[in-house]
Amino acid sequence: MKYIKDHENLNEKIILLRLDLNVPLRNGIITDQTRIVKILPIINFLIEKKSKILIISHVGRPKGKVNKELSLKPICESLEKKITQKVRLIQENIFNLKKEELFKDTTDRVVILENIRFYDEEEKNDTNFSKHLAKLADIFVNDAFSCSHRAHASVSEITKFLPSYAGIQLETEINALKKVTSEIKKPITCIIGGSKISTKIGIIKNLIPKFNNIIIVGGMANNILNYMGSPIGKSIKENNCESIIAEIFRIIKTHSCSIIYPVDVVVGKSTSDKPQIKELNEITNDDLILDIGPKTIDKIKKIIENSATILWNGPAGYFENPEFAYGSFEIAKKIVKMNKAKLIYSIAGGGDTIAVLNQIKAVDSFNFVSTAGGAFLEYLEGKELPGIKALN
Ligand code: 3PG
Repeated sequence: MKYIKDHENLNEKIILLRLDLNVPLRNGIITDQTRIVKILPIINFLIEKKSKILIISHVGRPKGKVNKELSLKPICESLEKKITQKVRLIQENIFNLKKEELFKDTTDRVVILENIRFYDEEEKNDTNFSKHLAKLADIFVNDAFSCSHRAHASVSEITKFLPSYAGIQLETEINALKKVTSEIKKPITCIIGGSKISTKIGIIKNLIPKFNNIIIVGGMANNILNYMGSPIGKSIKENNCESIIAEIFRIIKTHSCSIIYPVDVVVGKSTSDKPQIKELNEITNDDLILDIGPKTIDKIKKIIENSATILWNGPAGYFENPEFAYGSFEIAKKIVKMNKAKLIYSIAGGGDTIAVLNQIKAVDSFNFVSTAGGAFLEYLEGKELPGIKALN
């Protein structure tokens, strides 16, 4: 892998910089800035080297359609304030752009293309789309470790058409994860939550041989509860996962790994409702499961107490409403307490998990915090991520 920091001449070169600016947004307001803060070193480095920076990122999952709510505008404005330099957002169709016109205005040194996932071709890893993107720049840099598990055009295929390098944050994250995974101490507990069920459910079976406990909370826990025959009301769940879950419970029998999932929950009739603690058999058709219950929290705390390493990706509930953030906060506080007493080694990953930790100022009390969620889990699984493979 080549590293951009080792490149000798970046002067006036156009750098196509893939970042992960997929930050949590609520009504156009960024609720956690961590992913923007983390990419400031690469931006400042390239500015210092007098490069012209053409940023590509996605936000959310617009599925190939223009969606104003998922515009990069607020992110562009936030970045502009942080680097105290003009950042121009290009909203024209990418296919109409020409390299020689991108930086025609000499005051433009940093420009951002609008959400790359507004184009269907991005997630299809389309070759012509990648070729067109490549024509806009001289060098490609991937500084988006957290997107490197996606075989998408601006992460993977693009590397076929431009000299390609690893960015500063990507290098930091890979080195840190390499170190922790090689020195990892047992018993290891992995806590998996959040709402991206489809990204994570297929990974679990590959984690079973590596870990002692896998605690499933958040959206994926609803699939498990449903499989076990509990009512889940109108809670989020992924369709057609029964065979994957059956396989998880089959594999677990031959390994010394336990799967832990909620024994009680907190529900609401909507995400803005007041919380109500319920036993599993009390969940009604109009309930939404939005957090883990007190018995589950106690169970998880005991497992944390008996672990040497904790890996955590994905909140336990709908933390965006503070009424349903209690379970996530309690998990975080327990890990912090054990960490301060030097009884565990702790790693957390993912945009939403970082947002939870930031809310209770717990980020610095973890041994390592990765910006990556899905990529972090796939890395733990031992997979070579497509974005990294492409750089290699
Ligand atoms: C993330 O937040 O994990 C990355 O931005 C990837 O997002 P995705 O799961 O929508 O591909």
